[in-house]
Amino acid sequence: MEMKKLDNQCIRIAKEQLSREGYADMGKIISPDMVLQFKERAIKLVEDYGKDRNFKMKDTDNTLRKLRNVPCEIIKSNHKELVDFYSSEFLIQAMTKVCDDVVEIPAYEHEQIQIVSQSEARDTHGWHWGDYSYILILMLESPPKEYGGLLQCVPHTSWNKERSRIIEYLIENKISTYYNTAGAAYLLKADTTLHRTTPLEISGKRRTIIRLGFSGTNNRRKKIDHGTLDTFFGEELIEMKG
Ligand SMILES: [Fe+2]
Repeated sequence: MEMKKLDNQCIRIAKEQLSREGYADMGKIISPDMVLQFKERAIKLVEDYGKDRNFKMKDTDNTLRKLRNVPCEIIKSNHKELVDFYSSEFLIQAMTKVCDDVVEIPAYEHEQIQIVSQSEARDTHGWHWGDYSYILILMLESPPKEYGGLLQCVPHTSWNKERSRIIEYLIENKISTYYNTAGAAYLLKADTTLHRTTPLEISGKRRTIIRLGFSGTNNRRKKIDHGTLDTFFGEELIEMKG
């Protein structure tokens, strides 16, 4: 796989945006061509192995998860190009520079690679934070902006799992909204940026992403509770009615 050389100016701009907004456009570092080379196989995996999730997450004030995802173990045995990219020198170096941190692949498998797809009306990944510091999103399919699936962020916030205060954060802070087209790549400072995707307005317009997780220095100091992602992939889900 051919990788671009890292451009210092692009790195600096992304790094500054990340620390300001908890979000960084990575499109100048990871080109649409690089992103879209993973699309065909990833979408096939969603079609063949995607599992519907529809529940309210207790740890984030019961915000809704209504989407379909493919777990890491399936991706690892079926999408070698993506797995190689995830652990490539190019990507780790780019992440280390933009995040200005020692960035590593988490040992916990559900935090590594996921494919997430939303395609039905009201599909959403409700307000939440990440357990680990950084999440890189590769956008494979994106509905026209009128149809929802927009990313919203509230940076410089933190997650108290006993009492997450999401409504208070939304009232007290400005919410930034981002629209990305297919081929985009963006980075989230996930553990300190409250974020969600807005619900899809209608069925049949797909938002499909690859989610790549990375830990930072911060994750080494504390013991990480994986309850939220365990809930995501576990069987003990609280199924939603209606
Ligand atoms: Fe997230």
